[in-house]
Amino acid sequence: MTTKSSKIVMARRFDGMPQVSDFALQEETLAPLEDGDVLCETVWLSVDPYMRSYSRNMKEGDVMMGQTLSKVVESRHPNYVVGDLVLYYSGWRDQYVVKNPDDPRPWPLQKVNYIPEGHPSTLSLGVLGMPGATAYFGLNEICKPVKSGETVVVNAAAGAVGAVVGQLAKSQGCRVVGFAGTDEKVEYLRELGFDEAVNYKTMGSLEDVLCSLCPNGIDIYFDNVGGSFSDTVMSHMNQFGRVSVCGCISQYNNTGQSIGPRLQGLLISKQIRMEGFLVHRWKDQWMECMEALGALVREGKMKYRETTVDGFERAPEALIGMLQGENIGKMIVKCQSGGSGGDGDGDGEQCKQ
Ligand SMILES: NC(=O)c1ccc[n+]([C@@H]2O[C@H](COP(=O)([O-])OP(=O)(O)OC[C@H]3O[C@@H](n4cnc5c(N)ncnc54)[C@H](OP(=O)(O)O)[C@@H]3O)[C@@H](O)[C@H]2O)c1
Repeated sequence: MTTKSSKIVMARRFDGMPQVSDFALQEETLAPLEDGDVLCETVWLSVDPYMRSYSRNMKEGDVMMGQTLSKVVESRHPNYVVGDLVLYYSGWRDQYVVKNPDDPRPWPLQKVNYIPEGHPSTLSLGVLGMPGATAYFGLNEICKPVKSGETVVVNAAAGAVGAVVGQLAKSQGCRVVGFAGTDEKVEYLRELGFDEAVNYKTMGSLEDVLCSLCPNGIDIYFDNVGGSFSDTVMSHMNQFGRVSVCGCISQYNNTGQSIGPRLQGLLISKQIRMEGFLVHRWKDQWMECMEALGALVREGKMKYRETTVDGFERAPEALIGMLQGENIGKMIVKCQSGGSGGDGDGDGEQCKQ
């Protein structure tokens, strides 16, 4: 039997900030399952900043890329049964067939059976998924907090990655200064235990703020934003400072080349280690990271929020909203009723858009 499914494609190349009219909803027909195949129905869809930067390599008509949390609705594979919850880089599709679930390229079909009881399965797209792992490995493997009291600066701090970075750094005895784009987000950072939280849109001079809040300099900079913000932060780094270049969201919608200061002299004189990374570098340590973060969630030491948008067809709005800062915590799209996620119980809270 064939199945009709919907997909969302990039209908027109983005010019600066994407517009809803750049996307199109299309139908496709899925072939009947063969032995070894699994048919999945998307319950939640993740929108992430990398979609904007990677879209530069896409052609018009390509399906939007991305990870989904889905339910198995038919299986001809011995390891999957109807009802299993799974993560997959399916792209923006409401139903899809996985031909070879165990193929690790680019990522296998992954069962979601590791979320602590009482917490939503949607954490597998946030704290207990790719963004959480980004915070965990970016902080522990690149920034390596070495002694208690080190000063950490993180931006996009109320987002999926930043909120985890700040809480992990606090749990390791660091002093954490977070920057975010609204007063509500600043309030949230205080609730999470950040030592200082600043609205970068209303703060005035970043130079003055750093002199005041980081008078002894910065030991660790977890950079999610890049651009001129980072240019200023870099000049406040201490000797042997560590900079994890995680993202540069301030640049993703740029249409031209952006020029910054030359950093080599500073890196030498301050003996700074600055390293970019892609989280999938630590693919082999993934479940170890999930266990560590899961333990913190279970103990109430890792709080989270999710911002949800209702309706598969509204994924473009969710992506644009996230790029414009409308989310607190992970931005996700609810595609089907009946998913056990996004209900924000326990230490989580939910904001609906
Ligand atoms: N290297 C990796 O493997 C990897 C993996 C995942 C994510 N990342 C990167 O990590 C960063 C955060 O990702 P996320 O998933 O956690 O997203 P997120 O923080 O949940 O959402 C994006 C946030 O970025 C902020 N933002 C948008 N434009 C900005 C600008 N011009 N200046 C400053 N802030 C801006 C907005 O918050 P405000 O209201 O605070 O502006 C927005 O809410 C992104 O740069 C992403 O590309 C990297």
